[in-house]
Amino acid sequence: MVAGLSFTVAIDGPAAAGKGTIARAVAAHFGFAHLDTGLLYRAVAARGGDPVAAARALTAADLARDDLRSLAAGQAASRVAAIPEVRAALVAFQRTFARQPGGAVLDGRDIGTVICPTAEVKLYVTASPEVRAHRRWLEVGGDEAAVLAEVRERDARDMGRADAPLRAAADAVVIDTSEMSIEAAVLAAITAVEARR
Ligand code: DC
Repeated sequence: MVAGLSFTVAIDGPAAAGKGTIARAVAAHFGFAHLDTGLLYRAVAARGGDPVAAARALTAADLARDDLRSLAAGQAASRVAAIPEVRAALVAFQRTFARQPGGAVLDGRDIGTVICPTAEVKLYVTASPEVRAHRRWLEVGGDEAAVLAEVRERDARDMGRADAPLRAAADAVVIDTSEMSIEAAVLAAITAVEARR
């Protein structure tokens, strides 16, 4: 990469597949900026009130809230993310971030398909619902069956919505982390990026 040019890595996949960890590691390895786009939808839901107005008024301070990581915040985010006007209000910010000089990694659900269809690298990070629920359960505790039900419900909503549903871009490299260590998954991602530089 020539310094100053943009280089976009788009990472999509369902909840708890490991895309956030991979995105952070890829960004750190190549010195790229990183945006967790799920935080945008979590922050819109956390603001309360009219989600469309919240999306249009979103600021950096909203993204710094400390209550965005819970399962409930994720479910609420998935609901507001199905509203086309909410998604539309967040497009310009994400595209500007993606094309900043020096490179950027964005992780979410529609980065390779809708936000950055011309991204230099597209990764689709996935794992079985059972494995993802188990990982989430190790973090949050409680009833593992309930966490699995929550994972399945969010998958169905994110994959089934009409506007920008979660799916792998046709030209995405698929990384299934079900039986991979995090180190192996990060290495697979870095290798895929290296191949396009
Ligand atoms: O990645 P996450 O769990 O923080 O995302 C929370 C919700 O936000 C997810 O269930 C769907 C929505 N989302 C989206 O629709 N598009 C994105 N690019 C990122 C997240």
